[in-house]
Parts: sequence; structure tokens; C-alpha cells
Amino acid sequence: MGAVGFQEATWIWRDGEYVAWHECKVHLLATAVQFGTSVFEGIRAYETPEGPAVFRLDAHIDRLIDSAKIYRMVPDYSADDLAKACLDTIRKNEVRNCYIRPMIIRGYGTPGLNPTLSPIETYVAAWGWGTYLGAEALEAGVDVCVSSWQRMAPNTFPARAKAGGHYVNAQLMKMEAVQNGYADAIALGPGGLVSEGSGMNLFIVDGGRVISPVLDGTSLVGITRSAVMQIAMDLGYEVEERPVPRESLYTADELFFAGTAAEVTPVRSVDRIEIGEGKAGPVTLDIQRRFLQTVQGKNDDPHGYLTHV
Ligand SMILES: Cc1ncc(COP(=O)(O)O)c(C=O)c1O
Repeated sequence: MGAVGFQEATWIWRDGEYVAWHECKVHLLATAVQFGTSVFEGIRAYETPEGPAVFRLDAHIDRLIDSAKIYRMVPDYSADDLAKACLDTIRKNEVRNCYIRPMIIRGYGTPGLNPTLSPIETYVAAWGWGTYLGAEALEAGVDVCVSSWQRMAPNTFPARAKAGGHYVNAQLMKMEAVQNGYADAIALGPGGLVSEGSGMNLFIVDGGRVISPVLDGTSLVGITRSAVMQIAMDLGYEVEERPVPRESLYTADELFFAGTAAEVTPVRSVDRIEIGEGKAGPVTLDIQRRFLQTVQGKNDDPHGYLTHV
């Protein structure tokens, strides 16, 4: 199967050089391939009136470096180098609205389990990618389920690190959801409370308040999540982080996902139970509008979210 649902670009940045897209290969026995030892980011750039701009580049690079540190990987590049590599890769490929994927991986060194015996390699890919959950999702909202899979306990995998291996859990969630006719899934944490979606954080809106599950070591510390909290406050909403039991999903006035890929996507049902009126709610749409205007450079940028390419 070739490329599905995205536009391949031409070049991938690999340790300071550009490699043709289809020539960018790693060995079968690379530690990252066998054991999931890669850390990565998902970043978006949007077309703005002043040309393409990357949303929260510095925050993503900081998280990448933190992820590497948690997995005892010492990158060969500084934060500035990595940020520059992202911008250069966008320019080199002449992509504008795009998704950017820096990766630091353990390459081919030893087939054994100790990853420190395998070299560190750094890559940046960028490609055109549309709406993650489908063209209609941003407007109409999506139908999701609570997964029968749960997020990992904090002392099993470090959820704060965005590591390739963690996404086997996310893939189990996603496959089950899609095969059962849902767009995506929400996972509970090991304590039974709501954690996050397969590849996005979530918010409920209840009594006019915008609420996100507390960061309890079972979810990624989302960069869109914190921007959405800021945007909601800027719009005058009360914002709260608290433990969220499963049934609060069903009784919420509104529900939405937040993430780099998902952007701000309304959720209209969970487990076939309609949320609110079963469509995108007014608070969600208000936050979504401001979010999209912000990333597309149609607002002031008081929080310094955009880096122009
Ligand atoms: C598991 C998971 N949670 C949450 C998010 C949202 O994080 P961000 O907004 O930083 O993209 C992502 C996406 O990267 C993710 O993969």
C-alpha cells in the first residue's frame, strides 16, 4: 500500500542533510523499529497572510527534548538547531499548510535490548495533511466511544514523553473504535477516570465552564490543550482542570478534542449517547473559531504562538 490520505513531500532532513523521501530508510533491526525507542513531535504550519507560520514551534521542540531526556537519549542538536531544521524542511519542500514530524530515534547498533548501544539519529519530515478526522469533523463533530483499552499507569510508561512505543496502545484504541464504527476513542486511566483520546486531549463544557481532565501522569501534556485553555480564558470562559469520571462525558453540555492533528474537533456522541444536542456546541465553536483564526494569523498573536517560516 502506498501513501494514504496525505501528500508525500520530496525531502526529509536527516542529521543535517536532505534525503529523498523514498530513500529515507532505517534498518529492520534498528532499535526503534524493534522496540519503539523513538521520540517525536507532531507540529502544524498554517498559511497566514504573511506566508506559512508554525504553531507553537518552541513548545514542541521543548517537549521533544524532554521526551529524549526521559528516554536517556542525548540529541546531537540544540533546541535552536531542531527548530531551524523544521523551518528549513518546510522551505525545502515548499509545503505551506503542513504537518511537521521531527523524530529522534535509536538506530541500528545492536539487536539486544539495551538501547544505549544503538546510535541516535535525527530526522524531520513535513507533508501536506488535511483535517485529521475527516473534512466534516470540524463542523459536524464526531461520534466516539470509551475504549475497552485504558491508558498506561504512570509507573509503566512515562506518558509525558511522546515516544513511538507508546502508540501501540493508541493504535489498539483507534483500531477498535474504527472497526466498531466510531471516529475515535476516549481512554480511561488506570484509576478509571477519563484520560484522553487516542491522539488528542479532550475538554468538556459544563455550565459554561471549560474543563479538562487533570494531568495525572496518564496523558500527554498537550500543547494545543494549553493553548485552548488560554484562548478560552481570553474569550472570558472559566477554565478548570479536574478529575473527570466517565459519566461526566455523557452529561456534559459539550465535548471536544484538542490536539495538533485534531485541532479543535467537536464530539457529538459518546457510546451512542448524544452529548448536549448531539451536534457541535456554541462554546466549542467559539473556541474553535478563535483557535483557527489564531493559527491562520487572522488575529493578533498576544501569546507569541506563531513562528513565520
Ligand atoms: C496521545 C496524545 N495526546 C494528546 C495529544 C495532543 O497534543 P498536542 O496538542 O501537543 O499535539 C497528542 C498529539 O500529539 C497525542 O498523541
